[in-house]
Amino acid sequence: MKLFVPRERRSDDGRVALSPETVRKLVKKGLEVEVEGGAGEGAAFPDQEYTEAGAEIAEGWDSADVVATIAAPSPAQIERMKAGALLISFMTPHQNHDAVRALVAGKVDCLAMELVPRITRAQSMDALSSQASIAGYRAVLIAASRLGKYFPLLMTAAGTIKPAKVVIMGAGVAGLQAIATAKRLGAVVEVSDIRPVVQEQVESLGGKFIPLPMAESGEGEGGYAKQMTEDFLRRQREIVHRHVAAADVVITTALIPGKPAPMLVPAAMVEAMKPGSVIVDLAVSQGGNCELSKADEEVVHQGVIILGPSNLPAGMTQDASTLYGRNVLALLEDVLDDDGGLDLDPENNDVVAGALLTRGGTVHHAATAAAMEE
Ligand code: NAI
Repeated sequence: MKLFVPRERRSDDGRVALSPETVRKLVKKGLEVEVEGGAGEGAAFPDQEYTEAGAEIAEGWDSADVVATIAAPSPAQIERMKAGALLISFMTPHQNHDAVRALVAGKVDCLAMELVPRITRAQSMDALSSQASIAGYRAVLIAASRLGKYFPLLMTAAGTIKPAKVVIMGAGVAGLQAIATAKRLGAVVEVSDIRPVVQEQVESLGGKFIPLPMAESGEGEGGYAKQMTEDFLRRQREIVHRHVAAADVVITTALIPGKPAPMLVPAAMVEAMKPGSVIVDLAVSQGGNCELSKADEEVVHQGVIILGPSNLPAGMTQDASTLYGRNVLALLEDVLDDDGGLDLDPENNDVVAGALLTRGGTVHHAATAAAMEE
């Protein structure tokens, strides 16, 4: 079986879908691996490391049985794949209907990374988590580097510096990593989330949970948050207002699957913050948690710096690639059958049942099929 790793499409994305470490493991399993020249350059994995790991440097779109990428390939790239080949990639299938159409037309099978179910058995394949954790970590580092203050409490010869106050909204994978990172830097961290189960996780990391009057749990299907009423969000904003007003840094990560991000930090709340404070809105691609954030732009509003980075994992190229590569390896190992072929029968495998976007010229993922018919 031949596996191809192309260069990522976005020039500002230095990641690569497989690191040399993962390539070595796949070659040991008997796969032929082809890597596009320079594919690992941005992640500091030179071609030579791939050849030493057993790969060939080649352009393998047309002949590959499996193609692994991070961001979805273009429809034109998908058209080059042979019928029956497998694509493993993030696909954003709810938005990217052209790519899904190209998969169907070319009878290319696809396991979409964002559709891998969040079940215990699939944790090693969970690229949403491996990349979100990087986003949470980097959000804190970016905020810390922009803030004109120390994060930790410091007793200096010139007097005492108070620790920075950080408010984190949304304590999923990215938010929990943001809490851990801000705590390691010595900040005082307060957290708002609507899933009660999160409180214990927040406290175990040293964060303080901001209690909300929950008439019912904010936890919906699959452990994710559900969409709350506008009335609830208004009350939540009233409660978090004073915490945000006193904060030096606010990091927002609140998302609801398939819905626009809840608006948690309106302009009036930003105006209550001190000049020089920093907001990092990680929900910016889903509409944003802050009313004033703009994707990949810096907005300064009454002295408050508002950042909306849309692809933070792309900037931590080496570990993002290493972890993504391990996720791909775990997924491939799960679908490789004893004869060295691929078993993509959803009946045989709960991970495939969830992650299979297209197979044999049809859309397998029901929500995507329904959205494309609309
Ligand atoms: P996400 O990225 O969809 O959401 C981020 C956070 O925003 C969530 O904690 C959510 O509760 C919160 N949120 C939504 N509305 C909010 C509001 N109005 N105010 C404050 N916070 C709000 O979630 P993510 O990070 O993808 O994962 C969520 C959960 O999924 C995890 O905490 C876990 O329970 C589960 N999970 C399970 C895995 C497994 O078992 N393999 C792996 C990863 C996640």
